[in-house]
This record gives sequence, structure tokens and C-alpha cells, in this order.
Amino acid sequence: MKKPKSIIYLLLLALSTIITNLVNAETVLPAPNGISYPVGLKNWRVLSSSYRTDNDTQRVILGNSIAINAARTNQTKPWPKGSILAKLVWKNTQHPKWDAAIVPGEFVHSEIMIKDAVQYKSTGGWGYARWQRETQQPYGKDSSFAQECFSCHSKVKGNDYVFTLPAKIP
Ligand code: HEC
Repeated sequence: MKKPKSIIYLLLLALSTIITNLVNAETVLPAPNGISYPVGLKNWRVLSSSYRTDNDTQRVILGNSIAINAARTNQTKPWPKGSILAKLVWKNTQHPKWDAAIVPGEFVHSEIMIKDAVQYKSTGGWGYARWQRETQQPYGKDSSFAQECFSCHSKVKGNDYVFTLPAKIP
């Protein structure tokens, strides 16, 4: 009698995961170029972090499993199709119990780059999207916003348009 019970349990678990994913996906509207907020992004692994001195913010750069595998095996020139890089940005704030510690405060935005050399050919093979503030409002009036992203990221064309150098994890 043990087996049927554990099968039912697994089915329920799968169902609840699917429902949770659907609910998360629906609450964030897609960007004006049709790119959706990736399901499961909050569970992605870390590629690097960065800290900006000019606008007092800090970021973590995450990757989906394709991107993480590519980074860990040094196959990022170019990044493989299906790679998604995400950047989450917070205002800097002081830790309430430790003055010297600067930690994430107010949420500023999340943004992603999706690799598909054919679909996103006009923007260097990456699809761009950004969602602003805690409410995750899609950024840009229309799909032309991606030109803004592409033009600045063109500074690192030689690194497949990616600024982040995956942090060394010994
Ligand atoms: C004025 C320059 C500039 C513009 C415009 C810009 N970025 Fe970036 N982006 C950067 C820099 C510099 C970094 C790396 C430093 C950091 O982490 O902030 C970066 C990092 C990223 C990363 C992490 C991967 C990487 O390349 O390092 C993503 C994802 C990203 N940007 C998405 C976007 C999207 C989406 C837009 C447009 C809505 C955009 N960026 C517009 C300069 C820019």
C-alpha cells in the first residue's frame, strides 16, 4: 500500500509546483517586445555580483541552467542558445545592526538577456527585457527600448555583448 500513496504525493507535489509557476508568471506582465518574465528566475544560481559607485546600487547576476553550465565550463564565446542572464538591482542600505555592512535595500529593477542568434539578430543575438520597482512594471513604451540596451551593451561586443565576467568560485 506504500507505493500508491507515494505516487499520489508526488502527483500533488508536481501539481502544486505547476500552479505556483503559473501564478508567478501571470502576475508579471511581459515586456513591450513580448518577452516574458522567466518562470523560476528566483531560484536561479549566481554568476556574479556588482556594485555601482555612481548610483549607489548593488546587483546580483543570475543565470538559468543553460547559462550556468556554459559559464562553469568556459563556453561563453558565444553563450549557447537558450542562455538567460538576469540582473537584480537594489539600492544600497546600511545593515541595521552593523554599520559597515552595505546590504540590499529598496528594489530597483530586474532585467534579462535571452540568447537566440536568429530571433534576436537585430540586437546582437540577445533579447532584452526589464521590469521596474517592486511592482515589476515592464520598461519601455514600445519594443524600440531594446535599442537602448543594445547600444550600451555594444561596448562589450567582443565579449558577446555581456559585461559580466563570471566570478571565480574556488
Ligand atoms: C548605459 C549602459 C547600459 C544600458 C543602457 C543597459 N545596460 Fe545592461 N549592463 C550595463 C553594464 C555596465 C552591466 C554590467 C555591470 C552591472 O552589473 O551593472 C550590465 C549588465 C546587464 C546584465 C547582466 C549581464 C551582463 O551583460 O553583464 C543584463 C541582463 C542587462 N545588463 C540587461 C540590460 C537591459 C535589459 C537593458 C535595457 C532595458 C540594459 N541592460 C541597458 C550597462 C548598460
